[in-house]
Amino acid sequence: MAAIDLGGGGNYLGRRRKSRERELDEKIDSKGKKGPMIPSFQNKVAIVTGAAMGIGEATALKFSELGAAVALLDRNEEKGAAVAGSIAASGGRAKFYSCDVGSGAQIQRAVEGVAADWGGVDVLASCAGIQRYGDVVATEEALWDEVMTVNLKSFYLLCRSVIPFLLQRGGGSIVAVGSVQSITALPNSAAYVTSKHGILGLVRAVALDYAPKKIRVNCVLPGAIDTPMLRSSIGMTPDPHAVLDACNRSHALGRIGKPSEVADAIAYLASDAASFITGAYLVVDGGMLVPAGGMAFSEGGTGAGHGS
Ligand SMILES: NC(=O)c1ccc[n+]([C@@H]2O[C@H](COP(=O)([O-])OP(=O)(O)OC[C@H]3O[C@@H](n4cnc5c(N)ncnc54)[C@H](O)[C@@H]3O)[C@@H](O)[C@H]2O)c1
Repeated sequence: MAAIDLGGGGNYLGRRRKSRERELDEKIDSKGKKGPMIPSFQNKVAIVTGAAMGIGEATALKFSELGAAVALLDRNEEKGAAVAGSIAASGGRAKFYSCDVGSGAQIQRAVEGVAADWGGVDVLASCAGIQRYGDVVATEEALWDEVMTVNLKSFYLLCRSVIPFLLQRGGGSIVAVGSVQSITALPNSAAYVTSKHGILGLVRAVALDYAPKKIRVNCVLPGAIDTPMLRSSIGMTPDPHAVLDACNRSHALGRIGKPSEVADAIAYLASDAASFITGAYLVVDGGMLVPAGGMAFSEGGTGAGHGS
């Protein structure tokens, strides 16, 4: 159909619309990103805490596979050094730094060491954590403090020490490990649940404050994952086999997760493939939180062996 000529005014309006569109195009960078959306950490330095075991170990291995130089921080010197050694033995760049993440001084020393050894810091994955049980009355003050220090205060301390180095690089990425218990609660876990909710709050706060400086901050929320932590929790129950079966059943996929499956999610969020994601959480739980009415996890969840 021929366009209706509205006369000079119509052409004028058309030209004005086009020039506005051009102005918007210039303002909005809507061009697609170039290159494949495969996470890559070539020429990047990644710090991973809790890297001696479990999710942290898998994350260190993953970052190394994807090209990063990896700084492994943990308080378990023997196991941490062994993981770093095995990465180096297979051609990766890795070094172990002994560090209790409950100590601001030890974190600062380790992070400065990483920057001195590798020339800077680009990525932080905060994986170190502990699991302790008890309802609010049964939870002794010392245990409450321990859980808050290792699980929550550590993330504040790490951000304080690492962010100045990320700023020197012109930006970077931080991923914290929360839990499905960052947005739900299991019985008999008052301190743990609180610490994991706190992490999500801090992730959001730091993400907001540092987005203008090109630092993205996100969180993964794992379901039950086969790590030494989970095995030790299950081992504390009167019938570990029944608990493991219940644990498997409580995930829609019918099984607990593998550490490498959480590491994949951490690597994705830390990478440029997630360049428009910040202040977010990614649930990595095999569908555990999907059922309406919540999960049947209390029948066999970790720590269920403890009455309160
Ligand atoms: N395994 C699960 O089912 C599960 C589920 C949800 C969330 N998470 C979270 O994932 C993270 C990793 O858990 P995991 O299952 O791999 O645990 P894990 O016990 O298997 O490994 C934890 C690692 O952290 C280290 N660590 C603990 N306290 C430390 C400290 N004060 N300073 C330095 N290092 C310390 C340990 O030495 C160990 O290497 C934790 O934050 C945990 O809460 C685990």
